[in-house]
Amino acid sequence: MLSAKPLILGIGGTPRSQSTTELALRCALTAARNMGADTEIFSGPDLVLPLFDPTSKVRGPGVARLLELSRAADGFIIASPGYHGGISGMVKNALDYTEDMRLDARSYLDDRAAGCITCAHGWQAAASTLTALRSVMHALRAWPTPLGVAINTATPVFSADGTCVDESCLRQLEILGRQVVEFALMRRAFAEAQKPKEASLRDSSTEETSIS
Ligand SMILES: Cc1cc2nc3c(=O)[nH]c(=O)nc-3n(C[C@H](O)[C@H](O)[C@H](O)COP(=O)(O)O)c2cc1C
Repeated sequence: MLSAKPLILGIGGTPRSQSTTELALRCALTAARNMGADTEIFSGPDLVLPLFDPTSKVRGPGVARLLELSRAADGFIIASPGYHGGISGMVKNALDYTEDMRLDARSYLDDRAAGCITCAHGWQAAASTLTALRSVMHALRAWPTPLGVAINTATPVFSADGTCVDESCLRQLEILGRQVVEFALMRRAFAEAQKPKEASLRDSSTEETSIS
């Protein structure tokens, strides 16, 4: 019987108030909650972190929170604005701190799905940033969800209260949130199914040791 809810962590947005990227991220996290997941978000001012420095071991409270949440998460939703055709420095910098998770049992974001969302003032940067973000997720050993969501913010997508007014976009964000939770539940069910096999392998290796 699987009990605890999967935890889905949202990382992204911009520190701008009414950031479209953060609003899109929140929509996808709502969809994840509707699928029965718990969610956390690391966005807005959270993203104002020192630049990742591979020679420094100093980690402030913001980075410590990011790493604690990332280690606990069963799935990720990452949202970046398109800045000059690519991922924003702030979002990439936050992701670079996963270098501290390199030697974890689940190295980097291993074993977990990552839904990727991008927002830009045009389709070209929205699409190129989505491709870049999905490549970064591959490098971090996450499983990018089949659907990534590229949003063109040149036309209104969100109302002043943060509601997504573009039906197609909302639908895509819902599918993305659902796919991240589905993957987390599948991995969990798989891990549960492996337990008896692992136990019997352990038992047989103990028997062999006692015979010799
Ligand atoms: C530094 C900077 C660079 C940007 N570069 C691009 C770009 O290359 N192409 C594009 O379509 N939009 C570009 N934009 C627009 C943003 O991608 C767009 O406004 C996005 O929705 C911003 O996200 P936000 O609302 O979450 O702050 C840029 C904006 C900024 C501030």
